[in-house]
Amino acid sequence: VLKTRVNEMLGVRYPILLAPMGLISKPELVSAVSDAGGLGMLSAAFISPSEVREQIKRTRELTDAPFGVNVPIAISKADEVVDILIQEEVSVVFTSAGSPKILLEKIRGADMVHLHMVPTARIAKKVEQMGVDMLVAQGGEAGGIVSENAVTTMALIPQVVDAVSIPVIAAGGIADGRGLVAALALGAEGILMGTRFICSKEAPVSEDYKRAVIESKDDNTVVAKIGTLSSRVWRNKYVNERGGVIDPMEQMNLMRKAIQEGDLDNAVYIMGMSSGMIREIKSAEEIINSIVDEAQKLAKNLANKF
Ligand SMILES: Cc1cc2nc3c(=O)[nH]c(=O)nc-3n(C[C@H](O)[C@H](O)[C@H](O)COP(=O)(O)O)c2cc1C
Repeated sequence: VLKTRVNEMLGVRYPILLAPMGLISKPELVSAVSDAGGLGMLSAAFISPSEVREQIKRTRELTDAPFGVNVPIAISKADEVVDILIQEEVSVVFTSAGSPKILLEKIRGADMVHLHMVPTARIAKKVEQMGVDMLVAQGGEAGGIVSENAVTTMALIPQVVDAVSIPVIAAGGIADGRGLVAALALGAEGILMGTRFICSKEAPVSEDYKRAVIESKDDNTVVAKIGTLSSRVWRNKYVNERGGVIDPMEQMNLMRKAIQEGDLDNAVYIMGMSSGMIREIKSAEEIINSIVDEAQKLAKNLANKF
C-alpha cells in the first residue's frame, strides 16, 4: 500500500528502516523489523568482524526476509566487515560516519545495494556522484552521533532531495505516522527510525532504557561532547553534572550499563528528540503497522483539506 522506489530496491513491503543502533540493533530486533515488512539493520559498531558474521548467521536463522548491515567507517574495521558482507551475500550495506570512498570499489563489485548517511545537501551530491544507490539524510533531532550545528530534518530533507536524483530516506525525529507523511511530503521515499525502536518489545535493552525514553520530554536530550565527536543523549544526572561532556574512555562502559543493567542517573542513554512522543512499548510489528495505518488515514484527511 505504501510504494516508492525504495520497496523494490530493498525488497521490502514498506520503506521503513530500523536504524543500526550499536549494541541494540541485534538479530532479534533486526529480524522482527524485517519480518514485519520493514528493513532490519545490524550494526557493526563496537563489535569485531567475526561477531558481525555471527550476527548475520543468527539473523538468517530467525528470518528469511532481507536485512542490511551498517558499517560505521570511522569506528569499525570497515574493510574487513565489507569483505564479510560480500562473503555472506548480504543484500544491503549502509555506510556511515566517514567517507565511503575507500570501500566503493569492493561494494560496487558485489551485488549489494549501497546506502550512505549524509548530514547536508552538499555531501549528498558528492556521495551520489560516487555511485551510491540511496541516501539516508539524518537531521539533528536524531539520537546518536550528530554535530552541534546539524541541520534539522524539516530543513534538510527537501534540500537533499533537490540536490540528488537517487532515493532519499529521512531520519531524525520520526516516530509515528505523522512523521512518515511529513517525510514523504518533503520528498523522502522512506524513513529510518532508531529511538522509536528502542521502545520495542524486541529491543535487547534494560527496562530502565525503555523507561528513560518514555519519561523523556521533547527538550530532555542534549548534544553531548565525547572527545572529537558529539552525540545526542538523554540529559540525566550524569550528563548534567559534567556539563554535557562525556569522557570518551568511560563512554563504552556507560552505554553498556544503560543497555545491559540500567541506571537512570549514572549511565549514558543515547536517544533523539522524538523520545518525547513515545509513550508505550510495542512489538516491532505493532510499531510498523500502526505507523502505516496512521499515515494512510492522515494522508486521506489531508487530501480533504484542499
Ligand atoms: C541508541 C542509538 C545508537 C545508534 N548507533 C548508531 C550506529 O551505530 N551507527 C549509525 O550509523 N547510526 C547510529 N545511530 C543513529 C541512527 O542510525 C539514526 O540516524 C537515528 O536513530 C535516527 O533518529 P531517531 O533516533 O530520531 O529515530 C544510533 C542512534 C541511537 C538512538
